[in-house]
Amino acid sequence: MANVAVIGMQWGDEGKGKIVDILAAEFDIIARYQGGNNAGHTVITEAGEFTFHLIPSGILYPEKKCIIGNGVVIDPRALLSEIDYIKEKKVKVNGNLLIDERAHITLPYHCTLDSIIDEQRGKGRLGTTGRGIGVTYMDKVSRIGIRMADLLDEETFREKLEINFGEKSYLHQKKINLGEIVNEYLLYGKKLSHYVTDTSLFLNQEIAAGKKVLFEGAQGTMLDIDFGTYPYVTASNPVAGAVATGLGIGPTKIDEVLGVTKAYTTRVGEGPFPTQFSPEFEEKIRLKGNEYGATTGRPRRCGWMDAVVLRYAVRINGLDNLAITKLDVLDELKEINICTAYKYQGKILTEFPSLLRVVKECELIYEKMDGWNEDISLIRNYDKLPAAAKNYLKRISELLNIKISIISVGPRREETIYL
Ligand code: GDP
Ligand code: IMO
Ligand code: MG
Repeated sequence: MANVAVIGMQWGDEGKGKIVDILAAEFDIIARYQGGNNAGHTVITEAGEFTFHLIPSGILYPEKKCIIGNGVVIDPRALLSEIDYIKEKKVKVNGNLLIDERAHITLPYHCTLDSIIDEQRGKGRLGTTGRGIGVTYMDKVSRIGIRMADLLDEETFREKLEINFGEKSYLHQKKINLGEIVNEYLLYGKKLSHYVTDTSLFLNQEIAAGKKVLFEGAQGTMLDIDFGTYPYVTASNPVAGAVATGLGIGPTKIDEVLGVTKAYTTRVGEGPFPTQFSPEFEEKIRLKGNEYGATTGRPRRCGWMDAVVLRYAVRINGLDNLAITKLDVLDELKEINICTAYKYQGKILTEFPSLLRVVKECELIYEKMDGWNEDISLIRNYDKLPAAAKNYLKRISELLNIKISIISVGPRREETIYL
């Protein structure tokens, strides 16, 4: 298929970075459409381990173009330091990274306010990444955001800040010191200017010329501002529907949608997580799966695979295929559980509830499956997987009514089984 979107089906960190990196070999362009440097996408190759926050995970292929689309929010300082970090590792960036001129930028006061606002929520705090993402999107919808094009035009940049910090504005009342950032950020703008362009125009021209595009989602369906466990979500739409608005292409240009899920579930930050393990077992899986945030280093919460969540993700994203990652992390278990439905006040629920109180009070219905108790990380062929691992995969495919096309058995490129 021509243009494929790669979408997280859970609460982020499903292994999108690895999947995008291996698929990128077959595409011409890799494009991010939402989120910001709250994302942390890990790619491991012979050149070492890379964590990408804003730069698409296709950047390791020097002949491909990577796009940061209009729907992404960009912290210029963070982006420049990410560019430096990968240049140090001898990765080519000049000429193959394109940044959209309509993308909104994150300034230091967005990060300050992000942390203040989250703290002020008290017991309702979200546990954001503190990267200013929510506040940048807040300014965007409040029509006071500053875009990449504005940053590159000194007059506009100064004028917008002046308006935003006017005497009656909410920013003025926050008593943020603006003076220092203007010159610093104008300089960042200059440094980024040669990457900045109308990426929608570029993308549409390339698609018309027959080029293949891989769309890289950040976060996951359950962190989506509309469909996630609101308010314990991020501020953008990671779901497939946002690919079009986040890149300025028509939805008709998306040919296929690939969902990525772990063979179990993780979540960083606060909010409901029905299948979360007991603390002792969680610690065991966290260690085996190295479940620590790629952006903030926080320990990730871990739990069983939740078919209610995944069926929901299949529906919301219109998924065509599935990539299952981290199957190897379950290697040593005697028994594996899959949550197949929830039960609330005696009623079986097969759809994810919108009211969080219901989610929290649900009883979970689990199906028990045999573990395989064998190291599968060296297996490259589906037929060679232990019978119990194949049964687990088959059952997931049945429960979600979708084909599995990729199975990942380790973090490296080669630790992959293609179906
Ligand atoms: P993303 O945000 O969806 O790109 O995922 P992250 O990079 O934040 O987290 C996934 C973590 O799992 C990273 O440390 C990857 O290197 C690692 N990983 C990816 N696939 C596999 C796999 O199949 N097995 C194991 N053991 N680790 C994996
Ligand atoms: P990738 O792309 C996992 C979580 C935060 C917090 C909530 C809101 O690596 O999968 P935010 O800073 O976005 O306002 O925080 O969303 N979160 C992620 N969790 N992976 C991510 O990205 C995340 N990006 C945000 O932990 O609970
Ligand atoms: Mg991540």
